[in-house]
Amino acid sequence: MVGTESMTRNPIAAFDHRTGFKLGAPVGFKDFMWEALKDPAAGINMIQTAENLAKKYSITREEVDQFASDSFAKAVAAQTAGFHAGEIVPVVTEKFELEGYIPRGIKLQGKVTEVSADTHPRISPADVLGKLRPVYEGGVQTGGNSSALVDAAAACVVTSGAYAKAHGKKPMARVVAAAAVGVPPEIMGIGPAPAIRLLLERTGLKLSDIGRFEINEAQGAQTLAVAKELGLDVSKLNVNGGAIALGHPLAATGVRLTITLARELQRSGLRYGISSACVGGGQGIALLIENPEAA
Ligand SMILES: CC(C)(COP(=O)(O)OP(=O)(O)OC[C@H]1O[C@@H](n2cnc3c(N)ncnc32)[C@H](O)[C@@H]1OP(=O)(O)O)[C@@H](O)C(=O)NCCC(=O)NCCS
Repeated sequence: MVGTESMTRNPIAAFDHRTGFKLGAPVGFKDFMWEALKDPAAGINMIQTAENLAKKYSITREEVDQFASDSFAKAVAAQTAGFHAGEIVPVVTEKFELEGYIPRGIKLQGKVTEVSADTHPRISPADVLGKLRPVYEGGVQTGGNSSALVDAAAACVVTSGAYAKAHGKKPMARVVAAAAVGVPPEIMGIGPAPAIRLLLERTGLKLSDIGRFEINEAQGAQTLAVAKELGLDVSKLNVNGGAIALGHPLAATGVRLTITLARELQRSGLRYGISSACVGGGQGIALLIENPEAA
């Protein structure tokens, strides 16, 4: 299973001009990423969906900045302790050659020869975050308390227990169950709450049976709304930092969350963990995994 995303290389696209430019008609270019972050059904973008949740759950700017500051602090602490390095394959300048094909490769910029750590986490006190301008006047979301726009890829092997056993492979985690739900698109960020509820219902587990939660921090108010809706013990949530600090490379996030969760369950010796994300357009998805060592 592989997901990859380059948000910094998203093109500025011209959608309407394949058949040429009509004299006098406006020449339109759109930011492809901003287009991807817009919901055409609700007519709003992802930041606005979080603002809707902030209003619905009475979440203040101070709460969101504190949550973001904690996410940065947890990510920096986990980086410093070497936790994140355990799941990162360094990107280096290299060439990929195969006979009969044009060589391709990666060329890092300037004097950089290796990127082996996430570049967005930095200590971010709440009062510093509090000075950033909100994306929307009077809103709670800023560039500092929303998920960072980053480049990343994530991969893992998912196989049957029988195959792993037959080939002498020791699994990081067992996938126990999954759930996906639909929610109104204008509050898409609440998706993890009903998805986690459905997952618990399907498995007969209680919220208190779950040792760790990795809930994607698409936007600070969004994750706080999910925590409030579920009555979540936040000391179990994103304990190594979340997407506000690490980034949310859209297509890679699901695998990244689940790998981080599996490794965190191993580190802490806990049995069950849930990874979950909201999905622009109005969905929530959740996955229950089990640490085989603690089963
Ligand atoms: C919120 C968002 C619109 C901000 O975009 P942006 O304006 O390009 O953000 P920037 O990275 O330029 O950050 C804005 C400012 O905050 C500052 N900032 C960001 N993080 C900071 C931190 N941790 N500490 C201090 N300052 C910080 C930046 O330096 C920048 O300052 P400047 O304006 O003086 O240069 C964008 O990050 C976003 O949309 N994120 C969420 C994506 C999303 O919704 N994904 C989920 C899809 S479901």
